[in-house]
Amino acid sequence: MTHLLDIQNLAASYGQIQALRGVSLTVDAGEAVALVGANGAGKSTLMKCIMGMLAGAAGDVRFDGQSISSLPVSSRADIGIGYSPEGRRVFPGLTVHENLLVASRDKDSGRARAEEVYTFFPALREKISAMGWALSGGQQQMLAIGRALMLRPRLLLLDEPSLGLSPILMTEVLNRVKDITASGTAVLLAEQNVHKALSVSHRAYVIQLGLMVRSSASSELLASGDLSSAFLGESSPSAATPKII
Ligand SMILES: Nc1ncnc2c1ncn2[C@@H]1O[C@H](COP(=O)(O)OP(=O)(O)O)[C@@H](O)[C@H]1O
Ligand SMILES: [Mg+2]
Repeated sequence: MTHLLDIQNLAASYGQIQALRGVSLTVDAGEAVALVGANGAGKSTLMKCIMGMLAGAAGDVRFDGQSISSLPVSSRADIGIGYSPEGRRVFPGLTVHENLLVASRDKDSGRARAEEVYTFFPALREKISAMGWALSGGQQQMLAIGRALMLRPRLLLLDEPSLGLSPILMTEVLNRVKDITASGTAVLLAEQNVHKALSVSHRAYVIQLGLMVRSSASSELLASGDLSSAFLGESSPSAATPKII
């Protein structure tokens, strides 16, 4: 079967720092896949590689059966990959609605799609005319995700959507992952918030210091109760010597 996203043996570095050391991962249509691991494990780097934003990455990234390794960044959105980077990128000087429309191809399809985004995030509809700068952190995160959904991507890369949010807002944002998946957009979700990420995903990969150290059904990983040190990092004695799977 052809995977929607198929990454094989991806390696990437920033100068001397090797951030990814031969990482493989797949996402199928209809799936929500969590990528969990401590701060610095390589989650954001993996997403940047999928978007083609890191020069010199080695390994193969295939989307819907085609190698996209040589495709420019700008074309990756066009072929159906949406990306919501870490840090809630919204235009502070545009309204919520304008923020969505500028992320679409044209105004007519944009308006129709914005309506769908508002059904995912009713809180945004209530703020439709509010400026980006005036939104709360949670609303900005919803808007950033909404912007990434405007081109109806087949795959959405969500990088740390819960960062800096209150527990209630975090739950609200992460619960939408299920709705987005059900609407036909597969999701790859990078999160440090392991429990919640596992509870809204089908499968999960655990990344540690640039290596995949575990991959299983999310429910299995949750049930194992083995989510502490290795996944959260700092205090793990094994953190310095991850095993390759
Ligand atoms: N722009 C950068 N320049 C140099 N090193 C970086 C840069 N971005 C990330 N790194 C390093 O790459 C590793 C992986 O980082 P990152 O992918 O951001 O991890 P995560 O998203 O899991 O927190 C870390 O060691 C980090 O310090
Ligand atoms: Mg990150």
